Amino acid sequence: MKNILHIITSPRGEVSASRKLGKAIVEKIQEKHSDAVVKERDLTKNLVPLLEEVHINTFFSPPESHSSEQQEINKYSENLISELQEADIIVIDSPMYNFSVPATLRAYFDFTSRAGYTFKYDESGPKGLLNNKKLYIAFTSGNIYSEGPYQIYDSNVPYIKNVFGFYGVTDVSVFRAEGLSIPGIQETSLEKAIEGITID
Ligand SMILES: Cc1cc2nc3c(=O)[nH]c(=O)nc-3n(C[C@H](O)[C@H](O)[C@H](O)COP(=O)(O)O)c2cc1C
Repeated sequence: MKNILHIITSPRGEVSASRKLGKAIVEKIQEKHSDAVVKERDLTKNLVPLLEEVHINTFFSPPESHSSEQQEINKYSENLISELQEADIIVIDSPMYNFSVPATLRAYFDFTSRAGYTFKYDESGPKGLLNNKKLYIAFTSGNIYSEGPYQIYDSNVPYIKNVFGFYGVTDVSVFRAEGLSIPGIQETSLEKAIEGITID
Protein backbone atom coordinates (compact mmCIF):
# COMPACT_ATOMS: atom_id res chain seq x y z
CA MET A 1 0.00 0.00 0.00
CA LYS A 2 1.34 3.42 -0.97
CA ASN A 3 0.97 6.57 1.08
CA ILE A 4 0.59 9.69 -1.03
CA LEU A 5 1.17 13.13 0.47
CA HIS A 6 -0.43 15.85 -1.65
CA ILE A 7 0.91 19.32 -0.80
CA ILE A 8 -1.39 22.09 -2.01
CA THR A 9 -0.04 25.63 -2.26
CA SER A 10 -2.33 27.79 -4.40
CA PRO A 11 -4.85 29.91 -2.51
CA ARG A 12 -6.99 30.20 -5.66
CA GLY A 13 -9.32 27.34 -4.75
CA GLU A 14 -11.53 25.90 -7.49
CA VAL A 15 -9.95 27.98 -10.30
CA SER A 16 -6.39 27.02 -9.42
CA ALA A 17 -4.49 25.43 -12.31
CA SER A 18 -1.83 23.83 -10.08
CA ARG A 19 -4.52 22.22 -7.92
CA LYS A 20 -6.10 20.71 -11.04
CA LEU A 21 -2.75 19.43 -12.31
CA GLY A 22 -1.74 18.09 -8.88
CA LYS A 23 -5.12 16.39 -8.46
CA ALA A 24 -4.77 14.78 -11.90
CA ILE A 25 -1.34 13.42 -10.89
CA VAL A 26 -2.79 12.00 -7.66
CA GLU A 27 -5.65 10.37 -9.60
CA LYS A 28 -3.22 8.80 -12.08
CA ILE A 29 -1.17 7.41 -9.18
CA GLN A 30 -4.38 6.00 -7.68
CA GLU A 31 -5.20 4.32 -11.00
CA LYS A 32 -1.89 2.51 -10.72
CA HIS A 33 -2.07 1.88 -6.96
CA SER A 34 -5.76 1.37 -6.24
CA ASP A 35 -5.18 0.92 -2.50
CA ALA A 36 -3.13 4.12 -2.16
CA VAL A 37 -4.01 6.35 0.77
CA VAL A 38 -3.97 10.10 0.10
CA LYS A 39 -3.22 12.68 2.74
CA GLU A 40 -3.63 16.35 1.84
CA ARG A 41 -1.52 19.10 3.38
CA ASP A 42 -3.19 22.30 2.22
CA LEU A 43 -0.66 25.01 3.02
CA THR A 44 -3.21 27.73 2.31
CA LYS A 45 -5.16 26.72 5.41
CA ASN A 46 -3.72 27.04 8.94
CA LEU A 47 -0.67 28.83 7.54
CA VAL A 48 2.80 27.72 8.55
CA PRO A 49 4.21 30.73 10.43
CA LEU A 50 7.06 32.82 9.10
CA LEU A 51 10.23 32.04 11.03
CA GLU A 52 10.69 34.07 14.20
CA GLU A 53 13.47 33.93 16.78
CA VAL A 54 11.56 31.52 18.99
CA HIS A 55 11.19 29.04 16.11
CA ILE A 56 14.88 29.12 15.25
CA ASN A 57 15.85 28.78 18.91
CA THR A 58 13.55 25.77 19.15
CA PHE A 59 14.95 24.02 16.10
CA PHE A 60 18.54 24.53 17.25
CA SER A 61 18.23 23.51 20.91
CA PRO A 62 17.77 20.16 22.70
CA PRO A 63 14.11 19.23 23.44
CA GLU A 64 14.78 18.94 27.18
CA SER A 65 15.54 22.68 27.30
CA HIS A 66 12.28 23.71 25.61
CA SER A 67 9.71 26.03 27.19
CA SER A 68 6.06 25.00 26.82
CA GLU A 69 5.75 27.34 23.81
CA GLN A 70 8.78 25.69 22.22
CA GLN A 71 7.37 22.22 22.92
CA GLU A 72 4.29 23.17 20.90
CA ILE A 73 6.46 24.56 18.07
CA ASN A 74 8.55 21.40 18.02
CA LYS A 75 5.45 19.19 17.98
CA TYR A 76 4.00 21.18 15.08
CA SER A 77 7.22 20.91 13.04
CA GLU A 78 7.60 17.19 13.86
CA ASN A 79 4.03 16.60 12.69
CA LEU A 80 4.75 18.23 9.30
CA ILE A 81 7.94 16.18 9.00
CA SER A 82 6.20 12.91 9.96
CA GLU A 83 3.83 13.37 7.01
CA LEU A 84 6.87 13.50 4.73
CA GLN A 85 8.50 10.51 6.46
CA GLU A 86 5.34 8.41 6.11
CA ALA A 87 4.80 9.23 2.43
CA ASP A 88 6.01 6.91 -0.32
CA ILE A 89 4.94 9.42 -2.96
CA ILE A 90 4.82 13.20 -2.60
CA VAL A 91 2.90 15.43 -5.01
CA ILE A 92 3.49 19.19 -4.78
CA ASP A 93 1.30 21.71 -6.56
CA SER A 94 3.67 24.51 -7.43
CA PRO A 95 2.40 27.60 -9.22
CA MET A 96 5.00 30.16 -10.25
CA TYR A 97 4.51 33.21 -8.04
CA ASN A 98 6.91 36.08 -8.65
CA PHE A 99 9.52 33.77 -10.16
CA SER A 100 9.49 31.43 -7.18
CA VAL A 101 7.30 29.18 -5.04
CA PRO A 102 4.32 30.50 -3.06
CA ALA A 103 5.52 31.91 0.25
CA THR A 104 3.52 29.24 2.09
CA LEU A 105 5.75 26.56 0.60
CA ARG A 106 8.86 28.49 1.55
CA ALA A 107 7.58 28.71 5.14
CA TYR A 108 6.82 24.97 5.08
CA PHE A 109 10.43 24.22 4.12
CA ASP A 110 11.61 26.35 7.06
CA PHE A 111 9.68 24.03 9.36
CA THR A 112 10.69 20.77 7.67
CA SER A 113 14.39 21.39 6.96
CA ARG A 114 15.78 20.10 10.25
CA ALA A 115 18.99 18.23 11.01
CA GLY A 116 18.24 14.83 12.48
CA TYR A 117 14.84 14.68 10.77
CA THR A 118 15.05 15.34 7.04
CA PHE A 119 18.85 15.44 6.77
CA LYS A 120 21.91 14.90 8.92
CA TYR A 121 25.57 15.78 8.82
CA ASP A 122 28.26 13.14 8.94
CA GLU A 123 31.99 13.16 8.22
CA SER A 124 31.35 13.40 4.47
CA GLY A 125 28.88 16.29 4.75
CA PRO A 126 25.07 16.52 4.62
CA LYS A 127 23.02 13.37 3.99
CA GLY A 128 19.32 13.24 3.17
CA LEU A 129 17.20 11.14 5.50
CA LEU A 130 14.07 10.81 3.36
CA ASN A 131 15.04 7.91 1.13
CA ASN A 132 13.15 5.73 -1.37
CA LYS A 133 10.47 8.29 -2.08
CA LYS A 134 9.11 9.61 -5.34
CA LEU A 135 8.33 13.29 -5.87
CA TYR A 136 5.97 14.70 -8.50
CA ILE A 137 5.92 18.46 -9.10
CA ALA A 138 2.78 20.00 -10.66
CA PHE A 139 4.18 23.23 -12.04
CA THR A 140 1.98 25.94 -13.56
CA SER A 141 2.98 29.36 -14.83
CA GLY A 142 1.83 32.34 -16.85
CA ASN A 143 5.02 32.45 -18.88
CA ILE A 144 7.29 29.64 -20.17
CA TYR A 145 10.30 28.49 -18.14
CA SER A 146 11.18 25.04 -19.47
CA GLU A 147 12.95 26.67 -22.42
CA GLY A 148 13.66 30.08 -23.89
CA PRO A 149 14.74 33.42 -22.39
CA TYR A 150 12.82 33.03 -19.10
CA GLN A 151 14.42 29.69 -18.19
CA ILE A 152 17.00 31.46 -16.01
CA TYR A 153 14.23 33.15 -14.01
CA ASP A 154 12.90 29.84 -12.74
CA SER A 155 13.49 29.75 -8.98
CA ASN A 156 10.59 27.36 -8.55
CA VAL A 157 11.23 23.88 -9.95
CA PRO A 158 15.04 23.92 -9.44
CA TYR A 159 14.51 25.17 -5.87
CA ILE A 160 12.05 22.41 -4.97
CA LYS A 161 14.39 19.84 -6.51
CA ASN A 162 17.29 21.24 -4.48
CA VAL A 163 15.40 21.14 -1.18
CA PHE A 164 14.09 17.62 -1.75
CA GLY A 165 17.48 16.49 -3.07
CA PHE A 166 18.95 17.72 0.21
CA TYR A 167 16.28 15.64 2.02
CA GLY A 168 17.37 12.57 0.00
CA VAL A 169 14.50 12.58 -2.50
CA THR A 170 16.12 12.45 -5.92
CA ASP A 171 13.53 10.56 -7.96
CA VAL A 172 11.54 13.51 -9.32
CA SER A 173 9.10 13.93 -12.20
CA VAL A 174 7.87 17.37 -13.25
CA PHE A 175 4.66 18.02 -15.15
CA ARG A 176 4.22 21.53 -16.51
CA ALA A 177 1.27 23.61 -17.61
CA GLU A 178 3.12 26.68 -18.79
CA GLY A 179 2.14 29.73 -20.81
CA LEU A 180 -1.16 30.15 -18.99
CA SER A 181 -1.01 33.90 -19.71
CA ILE A 182 -0.03 33.54 -23.36
CA PRO A 183 -2.85 33.64 -25.93
CA GLY A 184 -2.64 30.69 -28.27
CA ILE A 185 -1.03 28.52 -25.59
CA GLN A 186 -3.19 29.20 -22.52
CA GLU A 187 -6.26 27.58 -24.02
CA THR A 188 -4.76 24.08 -24.16
CA SER A 189 -1.74 24.11 -21.84
CA LEU A 190 -3.38 22.58 -18.78
CA GLU A 191 -5.28 19.99 -20.78
CA LYS A 192 -2.09 18.93 -22.57
CA ALA A 193 -0.15 18.75 -19.28
CA ILE A 194 -2.85 16.53 -17.76
CA GLU A 195 -2.87 14.29 -20.85
CA GLY A 196 0.91 13.99 -20.63
CA ILE A 197 1.02 12.66 -17.05
CA THR A 198 2.81 9.33 -16.83
CA ILE A 199 3.33 7.45 -13.61
CA ASP A 200 6.35 5.15 -13.23
C1 LIG B 1 0.60 36.31 -7.15
C2 LIG B 1 0.92 35.76 -8.51
C3 LIG B 1 2.20 35.89 -9.00
C4 LIG B 1 2.52 35.38 -10.26
N1 LIG B 1 3.79 35.48 -10.73
C5 LIG B 1 4.12 34.92 -11.91
C6 LIG B 1 5.45 34.93 -12.39
O1 LIG B 1 6.36 35.46 -11.77
N2 LIG B 1 5.70 34.34 -13.58
C7 LIG B 1 4.74 33.71 -14.31
O2 LIG B 1 5.03 33.18 -15.37
N3 LIG B 1 3.47 33.66 -13.87
C8 LIG B 1 3.12 34.26 -12.70
N4 LIG B 1 1.85 34.19 -12.25
C9 LIG B 1 0.86 33.40 -13.00
C10 LIG B 1 0.71 32.02 -12.38
O3 LIG B 1 1.94 31.34 -12.31
C11 LIG B 1 -0.28 31.15 -13.15
O4 LIG B 1 -1.49 31.83 -13.29
C12 LIG B 1 -0.49 29.84 -12.42
O5 LIG B 1 -1.37 29.05 -13.14
C13 LIG B 1 -1.11 30.08 -11.08
O6 LIG B 1 -1.38 28.81 -10.50
P1 LIG B 1 -2.69 28.64 -9.64
O7 LIG B 1 -3.84 28.86 -10.60
O8 LIG B 1 -2.63 27.23 -9.15
O9 LIG B 1 -2.65 29.64 -8.52
C14 LIG B 1 1.51 34.73 -11.02
C15 LIG B 1 0.21 34.62 -10.52
C16 LIG B 1 -0.09 35.13 -9.28
C17 LIG B 1 -1.50 34.98 -8.75
